[in-house]
Amino acid sequence: MKSENTNKMKITNICCIGAGYVGGPTMSVIAQKCPDIKVTVVDINENRIKAWNDPNVENIPIYEPGLTEVVKEARGRNLFFSTDVDKAIDEAEMIFISVNTPTKTYGIGKGMAADLKYIELSARQIARVATSDKIIVEKSTLPVRTAEAIKNILDNSGKGVKFQILSNPEFLAEGTAVENLLNPDRVLIGGEQTKDGRAAIEALVGIYQRWIPKERLLTTNVWSSELSKLTANAFLAQRISSINAMSELCEMTEADVEEVARAIGADSRIGSRFLKASVGFGGSCFQKDILNLVYIARSYNLHEVADYWEQVIIINNHQRSRFSKKIVQSLFNTVSGKKIAFLGWAFKKETNDTRESAAIYVADALIEEQANVVVYDPKVKGEQMYADLDYLASRDIDENRNKLIVADDPYAACKDAHAIAILTEWDEFKTYDWKRIYKEMQKPAFVFDGRNLLDKEMLTEIGFVHYAIGKS
Ligand code: UDX
Ligand code: UDX
Repeated sequence: MKSENTNKMKITNICCIGAGYVGGPTMSVIAQKCPDIKVTVVDINENRIKAWNDPNVENIPIYEPGLTEVVKEARGRNLFFSTDVDKAIDEAEMIFISVNTPTKTYGIGKGMAADLKYIELSARQIARVATSDKIIVEKSTLPVRTAEAIKNILDNSGKGVKFQILSNPEFLAEGTAVENLLNPDRVLIGGEQTKDGRAAIEALVGIYQRWIPKERLLTTNVWSSELSKLTANAFLAQRISSINAMSELCEMTEADVEEVARAIGADSRIGSRFLKASVGFGGSCFQKDILNLVYIARSYNLHEVADYWEQVIIINNHQRSRFSKKIVQSLFNTVSGKKIAFLGWAFKKETNDTRESAAIYVADALIEEQANVVVYDPKVKGEQMYADLDYLASRDIDENRNKLIVADDPYAACKDAHAIAILTEWDEFKTYDWKRIYKEMQKPAFVFDGRNLLDKEMLTEIGFVHYAIGKS
């Protein structure tokens, strides 16, 4: 770190541990915007790094609109992907930690708490390797007060190296990652309220300031920053569960959930975004972060707070399961041996990420009812679909391969099907030749639109029996 007269640190070398959906795009954009800073993204997963370094930039492991262009510009110039974690840590003045923090699958807090083992491993590795002062930036979403644990590990390295810990949670949404990184609503930086803490905050502000207006860079104490990220995700997910809860009531009362959403969204206090009823939210964050919030609240004996947020997850699970039940009921109470075509497997459009996607749970429920599920998704690979189903451990993995077939063409997926279920809102589904699809299906031909994507009038005119969320 070069010290300037004003005590400002000039950062020339940063690294990021974790080349995933957050670390990869975030660091690519930082490298593009700061050509004078060397940016190294490291990961223990050799295949992932190999893919990031693939000479054909189309083969990078994460699909995000606009990302290949950013990587093309910066890779090899000041953006590097590597598995040599020690070297990158040693050289960097600022280290982002962007490893995953999944829900714990064992021990105390199983199924609720965030598993911080990768965070701790990263901190221990930094403590072991570092020979000069460093700023550590928490990028991963973490329980409030995690910075304290990281600091304890680092401060006891016994080498006299000084560390400053910043919390800089990432708010990007997948599918719009590059756009969100280039033009964020805000960037949040939490740090220690001391002279050194403020200098570290300023160093990170100095990076973002290159392309983001200063008024959008919010600085807070570390704990507010950590908790704000959990709170933001909880509020966003709560809006979806709220509208999804109303969708079921709409179906009973002949109200139309889209009309209700439009009517309430016009109130500027409520706002119109994130009010789209669906088969249920997915993604790596909402469920994990709310479960974690619930766990933290319970650990402070705040049971009413915990119950309040837990309800968001309960409604989401209910929304998924009532969608699969609707399919079974509509198909004359049995789907055994029937072909159900899924359009979409990703948890939302414009991404190949499938973590916690509603499609996984709906497929699992239908396979349990002995349906034959055939899936087409424009970006998700078949091996990922099988990995997702196998992870639920509901049955033998061979049976998953018998009961779920991957199609690489949507018309083949739908041919001879008894029903089609829309699980992801890919735009291309709207442009299909629905007359041809109808002709080639079993009759009556059902469409279950879990995303309210398709035009109901068009489908019913063709002859489909049509079900959409929150519509009678
Ligand atoms: C996200 C966010 O970082 C986090 O905020 C959120 O809470 C969930 O996970 P994401 O980038 O989406 O992370 O996760 P993932 O795509 O799994 O990437 C994490 C990467 O870290 C993986 O490539 C993994 O191999 C790597 N990793 C993990 C390491 O390099 N070292 C480790 O010790 C553990
Ligand atoms: C979310 C947050 O938006 C982001 O700020 C945070 O950094 C990570 O978690 P992400 O999970 O990538 O981002 O996508 P998001 O657009 O929030 O969608 C999450 C899920 O909710 C998707 O399954 C989506 O289809 C669903 N959704 C979203 C709805 O069902 N209805 C809506 O109105 C909005």
